[in-house]
Order: sequence, then C-alpha cells, then structure tokens
Amino acid sequence: MIGGAVKVALVAIIVYRVARSFLNPPDDVFKKHYPGKCSQVKGLNFGSEDLEVTKNGLAFVTSGVWFPTVSNKFDEFLKSNNIQGNIFLYDFNQPDLGARKLKLIPSKDFDPETFHPHGISLLEDETNGEHLLYVVSHPKHADDAVEKFRYSPKTNELIHLKSFTGDVLHITNDLTVLEEDKFYISNFLYFKNPYLSIAEHVFSSFGFGSLVFFNGTAFSVVKQSMNSPNGLFLSKDKRILYNALPREQSVKAFEIKSDYSLTEIQSVVIGTSPDNLHLSNSGDALYTGAHPVIPKIIQHLGDPRQPSPSSVLKLPLKDGKIVPEEIVELFYDHGNLISGSSVAAVYNNKLLIGSVINKLVICDANTAL
Ligand SMILES: *[C@@H]1O[C@H](CO)[C@@H](O)[C@H](O)[C@H]1NC(C)=O
Repeated sequence: MIGGAVKVALVAIIVYRVARSFLNPPDDVFKKHYPGKCSQVKGLNFGSEDLEVTKNGLAFVTSGVWFPTVSNKFDEFLKSNNIQGNIFLYDFNQPDLGARKLKLIPSKDFDPETFHPHGISLLEDETNGEHLLYVVSHPKHADDAVEKFRYSPKTNELIHLKSFTGDVLHITNDLTVLEEDKFYISNFLYFKNPYLSIAEHVFSSFGFGSLVFFNGTAFSVVKQSMNSPNGLFLSKDKRILYNALPREQSVKAFEIKSDYSLTEIQSVVIGTSPDNLHLSNSGDALYTGAHPVIPKIIQHLGDPRQPSPSSVLKLPLKDGKIVPEEIVELFYDHGNLISGSSVAAVYNNKLLIGSVINKLVICDANTAL
C-alpha cells in the first residue's frame, strides 16, 4: 500500500518536472540586447565560471570547470580541447592584454594537474596588491577542497598557501570569504555517484543541498535542506549573505548572526536561473549571470557544443534587501557571443560576463549599469 503510494508520488513528480521543462518559453520569445558594444575577451575560450573584481579593476577568473557528475560528452569536450583548470587575470585598465593565465606555484598539498576550479572569492590587500584568493576545486579522484593562494602582482603568480577539506563538503560550488580563513561555502549536490546524482537532479526540490561555514578550524552546516544552492556573495558590510538558487530561480538573503548562523530575511523569485552573484563597487546592487532557458542549459551542460542563452540581471539593493520591482536585464544573447552565462561584474561602467564553459565577454554601456 505504502509502496504503491510512493510509486504514484514519484511518477507524479517526474511527470510534473518533465512537463515543466517543456512549458518553459521557447528561446525566440526573448530579444537579444546589449548595453553597448560587446566583444569576446581574447585568451579565454573554455570557461569563466566565476570571477571576482578588485577595487582597482583586476578580475580573477576561474576556468575549466569540471565536477564528478558531468556527462561523458562534457568530459570529451574538455579532453578534445585540452582544457586544464586555471585562473586567469583580466585587467579592466589594460583590456588589450586580454585574459592572461596566471602561473600556479604549487605546495606539497596542491597539484595544479588536478585543479578544477569553480567558485572564487577574494580578500583584498589594498596596500601591496597581494590579494588572497580562495577557490573551490573538484580534484579528480579526491574530495572537494578550498584552495587558498596569494597573488603576487610583480610576477603574476598565484602561490598556493593552504588546502581546506572536510567530510561535510559534498559537491561544492561557490564560496565567499568573511575574513582570513573564515568563509561560507555552498554544497550544490549531495551525491558524487553519477546514478544517485541523476536521482538527486529529479528530486532536488526535496533539498539535499546545504550551506556550510568554516570558522578557521572546522566546517559546520549552517543551513540544511536547500535546493542546490549555488553562487554566494556578501554585502559590503559583510552582515548579509546572498545566495543564488538556480533551480528555484530565486535569490535569498540571510542575516549573519554573531555565531555565524544564518537567518533568512528575503527570498526573491526572479524568473531566470541565477548562477553566480557579484556585488557592485558601491554595494548597492548585485549582478548575476543567469540561465534563462532551463532545457537549453541542461543540454549545454550535457554537451557544451550545444549553445545556451546568456542573461545578465542587475538586482538593486536597499537596506541590504533586493528591490524586486527594480530588477533589470542588462544583457541577453542567444548563445552566439557567449553561451551559458554564469557570472557578471561591473567596473567603471563596463560589464564583464563569464560563462560555465564558453567565452568571457566585455561590454561598453551607453547608460549607467
Ligand atoms: C570552530 O568550530 C568547531 C566545531 O563546531 C568548534 O569546536 C571550534 O571551537 C570552533 N572554533 C572557533 C575558533 O570558533
């Protein structure tokens, strides 16, 4: 009896999910629009999944994402294009240099060969420019880790300092650093096994994801039962944590308590699937690179040769909360200029857009971004 009820429920959920993906609006109801002249940044063709920009216009960009549950075609795509995990630098003040690969200086705990970077967060060193970078990595045949580097501006090197791993990290996605060696990180998926992972994709709304805090010595889960939490970013005063939830097509805001626990203060449905978040320099808006057509991004992740549209939204903030009625789309592309946008940042009124496994794009703007 109970078995029968469970079966009916499972079939109902699957039918609902499949139906919902077909009910998504077709791509051509959306209009391509750019804020000004846009072009691909040279030197970076295979992914700029996440990036963060310093106050003086240096963008650190993760490239070559891979994680344990990617499709065979995704793996083949990486292999046939000889794609390695790397971090690139794009300088808004020297755009002609394009994106430059930074040299990774290993330590005994870190092998650049197995580095597959995903989310990134910076702690700026405004005196010497020796910024600290924290990067989520999915090394093959090993557990997810957060890799900490120091940037050397003189040599353009990233010197590996430390690796952080722990049992509570499953398939992680993004992180945001509060202060040195204290950060929040998102567990996007629970299961590393591909078959269990497929089941998890179907039943993700039951919430296998979580948010985890690292306090300098240990990890602890601070938010459970979340639906594949993705991009994380802090408010300028570091008292509010923003989290993008692409499967729910929402962005949540959490107040950070003195014990680092989180209290949800807002959840805004934005009608597209936000991937990563980036705060404006002034702190009064978030930008997101989003996936507007779900079936297309699923196809694109299954086979990166299939294009998926790109969309950038600006989410204005007031008293730390998103102002839903002021959300605007700054950019939409069918996937020809950039496919599968995953992050966006603004510096000096120029818009930089990254993608899961495709181009990096820079746009001028005719109006204030
Ligand atoms: C960090 O968290 C662990 C586990 O919850 C706890 O035992 C430890 O005291 C905490 N350390 C600090 C510095 O708060």
